[in-house]
Amino acid sequence: MAGGITAIAVLLITDIAMTWAQVPALGPCPEIETMQGFNMQRYLGQWYEAERYFALFEFAGKCVNANYTDIGDGRISILNRQMSSLTGIRSTIEGEVRLIGRTDESKLSVKFPSLPVLVDAPYWVLGTDYENYAVVWSCSNFGLFSTRNAWILTRSRHPTLEIMEKAYSVVDKHGISRAYFIRTDQKNCPKMLY
Ligand SMILES: *[C@@H]1O[C@H](CO)[C@@H](O)[C@H](O)[C@H]1NC(C)=O
Repeated sequence: MAGGITAIAVLLITDIAMTWAQVPALGPCPEIETMQGFNMQRYLGQWYEAERYFALFEFAGKCVNANYTDIGDGRISILNRQMSSLTGIRSTIEGEVRLIGRTDESKLSVKFPSLPVLVDAPYWVLGTDYENYAVVWSCSNFGLFSTRNAWILTRSRHPTLEIMEKAYSVVDKHGISRAYFIRTDQKNCPKMLY
């Protein structure tokens, strides 16, 4: 129990650095199906964070985006970029994506070695058309709790409503609550690097 609470605290501290705000929930991770026939190569490149789950506070980064690159040997690097809504300070964080399971399975894990706390977070792609949207789910069990994360990523910084509706239908299909999603501020983002 105490271990679980510590783990959640650690994750919340980590969130300040990377805005992976968790939604703590009582009970284990729900059973969620990932997508079939996932193609990592088509998933590579630039994605913008359109919406994400949020918990107690808004440690908000704005202009959040990520670039996934194949660096060989089956390794995928991720470069996360964002800017603080409060201070305007820009930050980048590098991580590595790993496939856990079969190569056509969308169960990945993400690790950010530059963070003081090593987290190997699950990263499940629930649905993507590779060209417009992706819905990503991450859930970890901590004793009686689980922490839940979800993102809607889009190829365009300003996705159309039609694209968002497609993403929402993936969210709904998997029985994930829409209630915790908040929109990521992608307005007035500096052109350079973003
Ligand atoms: C993403 O990374 C690749 C490989 O480093 C690079 O060629 C590409 O320009 C990057 N895209 C953006 C938008 O930064």
